[in-house]
Amino acid sequence: MNMKMHVIQRTLLLCFLVASPCFGWGRDGHKIASSIATHYLTPEAKGAIARLLGNQSLADVSTWADEIKSDRSYRWASPLHYANVKPGAEGFDLERDCPPQGCVVSAIIKCTGLLRGKGAGPAERTEALKFLVHFVQDVHQPLHVSRARDRGGNDIKVEFFHDRTNLHWVWDSGLIRCTKKRWPAYAAELQRSITPEQLAEWSRATAPVEWATESYKLAMSHAYAIPKDGQLGRPYFERCIPIVDRRLAMAGVRLATLLNAIFAEGAVPNPATQPSRFRPSQLQGGDGCIRTFGTANQGDADL
Ligand code: ADE
Ligand code: ZN
Ligand code: ZN
Repeated sequence: MNMKMHVIQRTLLLCFLVASPCFGWGRDGHKIASSIATHYLTPEAKGAIARLLGNQSLADVSTWADEIKSDRSYRWASPLHYANVKPGAEGFDLERDCPPQGCVVSAIIKCTGLLRGKGAGPAERTEALKFLVHFVQDVHQPLHVSRARDRGGNDIKVEFFHDRTNLHWVWDSGLIRCTKKRWPAYAAELQRSITPEQLAEWSRATAPVEWATESYKLAMSHAYAIPKDGQLGRPYFERCIPIVDRRLAMAGVRLATLLNAIFAEGAVPNPATQPSRFRPSQLQGGDGCIRTFGTANQGDADL
């Protein structure tokens, strides 16, 4: 075996040994989407974010919501990383599909409302921003808006390039890792590929319910479309990596659009006068962001 083969084998081995937790995109996915978002921030948004995060970047804080998973005092936030859709439904419906304890969509709405309002102190606002960055990215991972019966693919055993894992991990991390790109280069490449038309189209869709429905449809059309024997290799990778790339780019653009609107100068709309398409109880029930974030109806995340 020649030297090159050794290097490839070792890289692949490393790729599978360093497994990441299954709560959202893996570390690289979050960093890539954050880096793309940072590129599109307005100076006002950059300033407001720097005041909340100090010298930390969006990429630095984007995995915090996963890091606190093991902290018992944040157990209430575990259901906020995903949503599941009723079997047979066309798309995500907030009233029907988001349980009282909250889901990724209600978490985005709640955190947006908190950052737009004036009621929260600096610590709460910083926490809401860190959650918001992470959840806007999670909702773009197709298997984070999918089926309850297999827990978003966590319960579907597959072999990915002959390594035993589950379908959810393939989408959080496996597909991205197997490009063998380092995340800063990956982000720069994706960012350069975004056309002005895509930028305009993606930032026009501002409702997190729409982002969730897009993810659900991609989960059904691509993620779950696996062979019966569960062997996922090159053909699955080639079919799905363009979807992963597009979802990471969309997550970045939409996160920037949302943060730019939240932190636009003078734009602090009164939540009470904001249109809300959702029952107030949807946002007030259960734990969700509520436990730390108070109980006022903050309206939706629409710009
Ligand atoms: N647990 C249950 N459903 C899930 C999903 N869609 N994604 C991640 N974790 C889950
Ligand atoms: Zn997550
Ligand atoms: Zn995940």
